[in-house]
Amino acid sequence: MFTLTAEQAAIQKMAREFAEKEIMPVAAEYDEQEKFPFPVLRKMWETGLVNYSVPEELGGAGLDTFTSCLVTEELGRGCAGITTAASANSLAFYPILIAGTEEQKKKFIPPITTEGKFAAFCLTEPNAGSDAASVATSAKPVEGGYLLNGSKCFITSGDVADLFVVFATVDKSKGLKGLTAFAVPKTEGISTGKKEIKLGIRASSTVVVNFDNVFVPKENVLGAEGQGFKVAMQTLDTSRPMIGALAVGVARGAYEVALKYSKERVQFGQPIANFQMIQAMLADMATRIDAARLLVWRAAAMIDRKEVPFAKESAMSKLFAGDTAMEVTTNAVQILGGYGYSREYPVEKYMRDAKIMQIYEGTNQIQRLVIAGNILR
Ligand code: CAA
Repeated sequence: MFTLTAEQAAIQKMAREFAEKEIMPVAAEYDEQEKFPFPVLRKMWETGLVNYSVPEELGGAGLDTFTSCLVTEELGRGCAGITTAASANSLAFYPILIAGTEEQKKKFIPPITTEGKFAAFCLTEPNAGSDAASVATSAKPVEGGYLLNGSKCFITSGDVADLFVVFATVDKSKGLKGLTAFAVPKTEGISTGKKEIKLGIRASSTVVVNFDNVFVPKENVLGAEGQGFKVAMQTLDTSRPMIGALAVGVARGAYEVALKYSKERVQFGQPIANFQMIQAMLADMATRIDAARLLVWRAAAMIDRKEVPFAKESAMSKLFAGDTAMEVTTNAVQILGGYGYSREYPVEKYMRDAKIMQIYEGTNQIQRLVIAGNILR
C-alpha cells in the first residue's frame, strides 16, 4: 500500500508534468475570468486525464481508484477548479457503473468519453442538500417511461453536459424509498438556469438545471425504481476519496509555495524559515498532508479490493483531507503575510479553492455523521 508500482509512479509523474505545463500557467486566468476551461479539458482528454477511472472498454483510461487518486492529487495541485470540471464526469458515471446493466454502460458512457463530452450528476436541490432524501424532482410514470419535472441546483458542468444522471422521486410519500436514478441524455425540456458566481473552483461551472416534462424511457432507470437513494450513497462512498485526493493536492500546492517562500523571505536579517513559529506551521502542514494522503490511499485501496463497507473510511478521508486543505492553505497565506493575501501569489486561490472541499460531496458535518453512524452501529 505504501510503495507505488513503476506504472503508478509513471502515471503520477505524467499527471504532475501535465499540471505544471498545462494547468498551472493558466489557472489564475481561468479563476479570474470564471470561464469554463474547454481548451485545457480538451488537452486533458487527449492525454487521458479525463474519465481516467472509467474502464477502457467504455472509453476511459481504466485506472483503479488508488491510481485515480494519485492523478487527482497532481491535477488538484495544479488547479482545483479545472480538476473539478474534469472530474464531474466521473461522478456522473459512477451511478451507471455501480447500478447500470452492461447494456446501459455501453449505451450511455462511450458517447461521452470517446467524444470528449461532459456529464453531470444531478442530485442536489434547493431543499435537498445534506438531506438528500428530500428530493422533490418528480418522475411521473407514463406509458413506456417517466416524465421528469423539477429543478436541480449547484450542478457541476450542468450547462455543458450531454448526459445527466438525475435523481427523482416516483412517489414523494415514500420518502427515500421513492427515489430513483435515471440516465438522461440531453433532450428537449432540459434547460439551465442561474450560474453560480463562486468563491473558489471558479474554472468549473455550477448551475441550476431544470427538467420540464422530460420524457425518459423506462430502460434508462439505473438499478430499480426506489433504489435511487442507495445508488446515490454508494456513488458518494466511491467518489469521496477522490475529493480527499483533490484536497490533498490543493494543500500540497499551497504548502510547497509557503515552504519555498519561507526559505527566501528575509526578515530580521535571516530567512523566516529559521524562526520556530514558521517551522511549527510548516511541520504541522507537512504532517497533516501526509496523514490526509494516507487516509485517502486507505479508502481507495479498500474500494479497489471491494472491502465493503467502506463508507466510514471514505468519509474519514474526505473529512480529514478537506479540513487539512482549509488549514494548510490558510497557514500558507499566513506565512506569506501580505503577499499571501495578494493575487500576486497563488496561495489565496488555493485557500479559496480549499473551502469547497469541506462542503461538496457531503459537508464535513455529514461526513462526521456517516463516521459516527458506522462506529456506533
Ligand atoms: N450505502 C448503501 N446504502 C446506504 C448508505 C450507503 N453508504 N447509507 C445509507 N444507506 C441506506 C441505508 O441502508 C438505509 O436503507 P434501509 O432503509 O433500506 O435500511 C437508507 O439508505 C437510509 O439510511 P440512513 O437512515 O442512514 O440515511 P439518513 O437519511 O439518516 O442519512 C445521509 C443519510 C448520510 C445524511 C445522506 O443523506 C447524505 O450522505 N447526505 C449528503 C448528501 C451529499 O453528499 N450531497 C452531495 C451532492 S453531490 C455534490 O456535491 C456534487 C458536486 O457538484 C461536486
